[in-house]
Amino acid sequence: MNESTVSFRNATLGDLDLLRYWDEQPHVLASDPNDYWGWEEDLSKPQPEWRKQLIAEVNGKPIGFLQIIDPQLEETHYWGDVEENLRAIDIWIGEKDYLNKGFGTQMMKLAIEQCFSEPNISAIIIDPLVSNKGAIRFYKRLGFKFVEYRTFGEDECMVMSLEKDYL
Ligand SMILES: CC(C)(COP(=O)(O)OP(=O)(O)OC[C@H]1O[C@@H](n2cnc3c(N)ncnc32)[C@H](O)[C@@H]1OP(=O)(O)O)[C@@H](O)C(=O)NCCC(=O)NCCS
Repeated sequence: MNESTVSFRNATLGDLDLLRYWDEQPHVLASDPNDYWGWEEDLSKPQPEWRKQLIAEVNGKPIGFLQIIDPQLEETHYWGDVEENLRAIDIWIGEKDYLNKGFGTQMMKLAIEQCFSEPNISAIIIDPLVSNKGAIRFYKRLGFKFVEYRTFGEDECMVMSLEKDYL
């Protein structure tokens, strides 16, 4: 049992170097090899209503990143045509030493609570690479269910969803 508690704060331009450093970590790269994150542009502007970019901290130390979007309103339409009232999450622990200690689970539980605290939100969707067996196990443990296999760009992904009535 891990006694340390994760908290979130909004990501800021001051996190630019850290986010770029995390992007280069092999375990992060392996989970998202073809995606480009325009950190400088994203963090220079106020967060739009359809996106939250959060830094997870443990005892004041930044350890990871979590993004919540409204996939219907998100500007690149990454998810294509999706229904309203969904949220989509991206997550990674940037600091390797903080993997496999329950912090990812804490981050997801906080994010799930945030998403479902909005009364209209019906489900949360995610898209791990099919090859990312550890992440798929992680999401299943949290209650996410298989929806479909889907190719995003060059990435073979498994779309999974957590319905609001998952408890
Ligand atoms: C996916 C990810 C966010 C999970 O975060 P995490 O903090 O490592 O997850 P947890 O610690 O909650 O669970 C991971 C494993 O550690 C185990 N674990 C949890 N707490 C533990 C503890 N205190 N001691 C020992 N093991 C523990 C879990 O049982 C789990 O085991 P399993 O892999 O055999 O199923 C993290 O692995 C990560 O950032 N990976 C790289 C990026 C990525 O893949 N992101 C997802 C893209 S879709």
